[in-house]
Amino acid sequence: MAAAEIPAAAAGRWRLGDLTVNRLGFGAMRLTGRAAFGLGQSRDRGQAISVLRRAVDLGVNHIDTAAFYFSPLRSANELINSALAPYPDGLIIATKVGPGRDPSGEWLPWARPGQLRGQVEENLRQLGRDHLDLVNLRAYGPGPIGEHFGALAGLRQAGLIRHLGVSSVWPEQLAEAQAIAPVVCVQNRFSLDEHSAAADEFVRACGEQGIAFVPYFAIAGTGREAGAGDPGGAGGAGGAVERVARAHGVSPAQVRLAWTLHLGPHVLAIPGTGDPGHLTENVAAAAVQLTPGDMAQLSAR
Ligand SMILES: NC(=O)c1ccc[n+]([C@@H]2O[C@H](COP(=O)([O-])OP(=O)(O)OC[C@H]3O[C@@H](n4cnc5c(N)ncnc54)[C@H](OP(=O)(O)O)[C@@H]3O)[C@@H](O)[C@H]2O)c1
Repeated sequence: MAAAEIPAAAAGRWRLGDLTVNRLGFGAMRLTGRAAFGLGQSRDRGQAISVLRRAVDLGVNHIDTAAFYFSPLRSANELINSALAPYPDGLIIATKVGPGRDPSGEWLPWARPGQLRGQVEENLRQLGRDHLDLVNLRAYGPGPIGEHFGALAGLRQAGLIRHLGVSSVWPEQLAEAQAIAPVVCVQNRFSLDEHSAAADEFVRACGEQGIAFVPYFAIAGTGREAGAGDPGGAGGAGGAVERVARAHGVSPAQVRLAWTLHLGPHVLAIPGTGDPGHLTENVAAAAVQLTPGDMAQLSAR
């Protein structure tokens, strides 16, 4: 099958509460500019819209976004709304709250619990929805998150949010949130280049509890917000990634995504791109089958 024809469903599915998603999804952060948060040059609007529509055509039904993904000229949520509304049945849009930026783009302090309703309503307005499918509380550091998560649990009770997740959290924070309301996913930084034994254990623990683990920077790795640069060269895994990519006749970015998906059936990929060619390639990673030997090679860097 040609790369352009491989659908997101080839990666299999996972349930986020009562919602089912293909494990290969899409991250909207790169739609507004090449670097994260639209720093640097804004991307072409028509291209961003066509990337979103193509993603859905390829079966992507899990899109990750945030109201704070904007550049001087583009807003990820506005692009999603313009490209995809009226939204197709089964499309799950996940957003995150906690961080915020003022209109000029400067970062604000972490929202206080009482400010989370406003952030949720901002997402509703921008996306043009009457409720949000999935809202992640994005934490800053290892401190308590109970008061914040409790505020979101209240908004869930009020019908503004269907499911809750947590992002950039430690296991203790997940447990704290779970004591308040069900948690369907953990969205943490995790890549071939950047994962500790403790992080590996956390991924496993999420799976054991039926919680999706949604890594970000799976391709960008140590490039983080600055972007992928050379996905075959970035970080300590570069050489092994190149070797495995050559053996399978796929790209280094596809190996990085395939490695992510091979971590467990509960692991969901949300690669971010504003590039149509990269989108097709990333979705096609859903069908890349790594062998135990490949996984060992990639892990033994
Ligand atoms: N919870 C959080 O705190 C948090 C933090 C960061 C991100 N996120 C979410 O996670 C998503 C994924 O993170 P991300 O977008 O930063 O990182 P990523 O998917 O790991 O990598 C994106 C970077 O890789 C490049 N890229 C994408 N596909 C490629 C390909 N096939 N070949 C070569 N380069 C490729 C992109 O450039 P091009 O655009 O030019 O393709 C961009 O520079 C975000 O979009 C966002 O939704 C969440």
